[in-house]
Formats: sequence, structure tokens, C-alpha cells
Amino acid sequence: MDIEFVRSRFIKHFDGTTGSVYASPGRINLIGEHTDYNGGFVFPGAVDKGMIAEIKPNGKDKVCAYSIDLKDYVEFGLNEEDAPKASWARYIFGVCREMIKRGVDVKGFNTAFAGDVPLGAGMSSSAALESTYAFALNDLFGDNKIDKFELAKVGQATEHNYCGVKCGIMDQFASVFGKEGSLIRLDCRSLEYQYFPFKPEGYRLVLVDSVVKHELASSAYNKRRQSCENVVAAIKKTHPEVEFLRDCNMEMLNAVKGEVSEEDYMRAEYVIEEIQRVLDVCDALEKGDYETVGQKMYETHHGMSKLYEVSCEELDFLNDIAFDCGVTGSRVMGGGFGGCTINLVKNELYETFITTAKERFKEKFGRSPKVYDVVISDGSRKLC
Ligand code: GLA
Repeated sequence: MDIEFVRSRFIKHFDGTTGSVYASPGRINLIGEHTDYNGGFVFPGAVDKGMIAEIKPNGKDKVCAYSIDLKDYVEFGLNEEDAPKASWARYIFGVCREMIKRGVDVKGFNTAFAGDVPLGAGMSSSAALESTYAFALNDLFGDNKIDKFELAKVGQATEHNYCGVKCGIMDQFASVFGKEGSLIRLDCRSLEYQYFPFKPEGYRLVLVDSVVKHELASSAYNKRRQSCENVVAAIKKTHPEVEFLRDCNMEMLNAVKGEVSEEDYMRAEYVIEEIQRVLDVCDALEKGDYETVGQKMYETHHGMSKLYEVSCEELDFLNDIAFDCGVTGSRVMGGGFGGCTINLVKNELYETFITTAKERFKEKFGRSPKVYDVVISDGSRKLC
């Protein structure tokens, strides 16, 4: 990401002066998918790709926002009824509103932004955008009095209230809290977290992007969440203490098998198993046992494909290629319905895997997947 590039566009687009520049990253997730809104564990890390925004208060009551990548300009006011139509601008508007709800006296500003997190790749470009503005508005208008967790929640609430996605906290948390070289295990119920330095000797993490974007991803995502809540409601009848699927085991799930739909049962089975897998992976990492880490990643893929049903033909195909090439671990990453696989691969297998994946994918689908090497990086920050 290039500050000079964003700055030159900001200067050109507005009155020739400069403002302050902020950045926030996208994220990967080693394991723990669709566990965050179930009160479970996730294991993300921030990446070296993200969003950069230049911002300067303009002394007016409105925000003048320019998306450099889309070459689109939008102005909007700061009241609830001023929501812009353009979906990219709704993220910025939502963040302004959520900061105002938390007592920050947000005033009008000029802003231009650009990013290098691939859109729709499951690397949370939207969380990167939300975290950039939440961090910036806290600095420019809030005396930095909002703490980092609340900044992550501002992004999450923006998704819920202004973008129609009932997401969990993982993406915004990783974007705000990221730390170079470390993955972070977050307990999404207690919000306790722990940094795990991640430098697997002899292995590397690589993302293979199917470049598939699912049109109905947000409604399908919300539907998965609803299934989990249906199962919790059924279990609660005999176990009133249960708050999330995190609090349930297979025995409790089986006891309500006749009361919930087959589909809801499968969704809950996946989540219960996935929460356990994150803990197993943490143990394995502590022992340097990457074979187990990898095996759990394959299990996650299987669960996401067959039980949670958030994979697709292209991602299943990439997962099969990884397995055939002897890649240690591979799975669909993020919400699913398209996007990337994350692969834990031995250094000596890297070239063969990437070449084979590109060739075989192109043969079958007529286009090449994209490949991104993972560099685990810092979270939200002010650049200048
Ligand atoms: C999306 C959501 C996250 C999380 C993942 C799946 O990225 O934004 O909150 O639920 O999907 O793990």
C-alpha cells in the first residue's frame, strides 16, 4: 500500500492541502470459522494488505468522500436520514453514525481512500475500511477516548445496522488488534485474547483465491447465523444456562435432533466441532506439531463444505488439489461462498503446489486463481 499514491489523489481531488493518513489491514484466519457469533474461538491475524485513507476536517456538516479505486465521489450528511446509496460509502457513513452514538462529536471531513485487499476474497476488505475510519475518527474527533475493542465493535455494528450483515467480531478485531508476526486467539464470548508468534519453521501460509464472489453471500451468512440461534433456542428449553453453541456439546445437540430441522442440526454439528478444533490447533501449535494443525484445517474444510455448506465447486477443487500435492493443511477461509483457500505448505512443496493449482484450475474453469503469500502484520494505525 502506498501513502504517496493516496496523498496525491487527496490533494488533486480536494483543495490542494493535506490531512492525516490512517491505515488498517485485512485478515487471515488460521482456523475457527463461523465460531465468532457462536461465542467460540477464532485464530486470525492481520495481513500486509489493507486500506489507507487520508482525512481532513472540512468545517462543514458533511462528509465528502472519494473512492480512488472506484473513481466514485459521494457526499453525505451525518444524520441518520443521510445514509448514502453507494454501498462503499455506507461503510464510512455507518462508522460515523456508530461513533456519534458512542458520544464522539464527529464533524464533516474530506477523505480519499484506496486499498489493496482483494474484494470478495474473504480477507475482510470491509472490516479494513471500517477499522480505518473508526480509528481515524477516534483520533480526529474523539481524543482517542474510545478503546480498541469498542472500535472493533463500531465496525461490527456498522455491518449490522447499515450493511445488513449480522457478522461476528473476528474481522474487525483482527484488523484493529493485529500484530506483526503473531496470530491472535480470541475467545469471542469473554473477549480474552492471546498473541501467538507464528513463524512455522519450514512452512509457509499461502492463499489461493478462486476469484468467485457469491451474490447472495450476506443473506446466506445471516441464514447460517439464524440456524445456530434456532438450535440454541431448542437446547435452552432443557438447559436454560446455554447462551451460545459454544456452551453445547454433541450430546445436547442430539437430544434436540427431532425438534430442529435437519439443516439446522448440520450447521450446529459443524460449529460444535469447529470450536473444539481451534483449541486442538492451539495445543498442536504449542508443540510445533504442524501435521495436526494441517489435518484440522482439512477437517474444517470438510465441515464447511458438507455440513455448513459455505464452500463451492471451485474451492472444493482447490482443496482437492492441495491434498493431492501433499499440502499439510488447506481449507476455505472466511465466511465462504467464494473467496480463498488458506494453505499451510512445506517450503519444498510450495512451487509445485502453486504451479499445479494454477494449471489444473485453469484447465477446469478457464481462468487462473490468484495467489497471495501471507505476511502477518500490524493492525490499525496512523501513518502521518
Ligand atoms: C465473516 C464474518 C466474521 C466471521 C467469518 C466466518 O468474515 O464477518 O464475523 O463470522 O465470516 O468465520
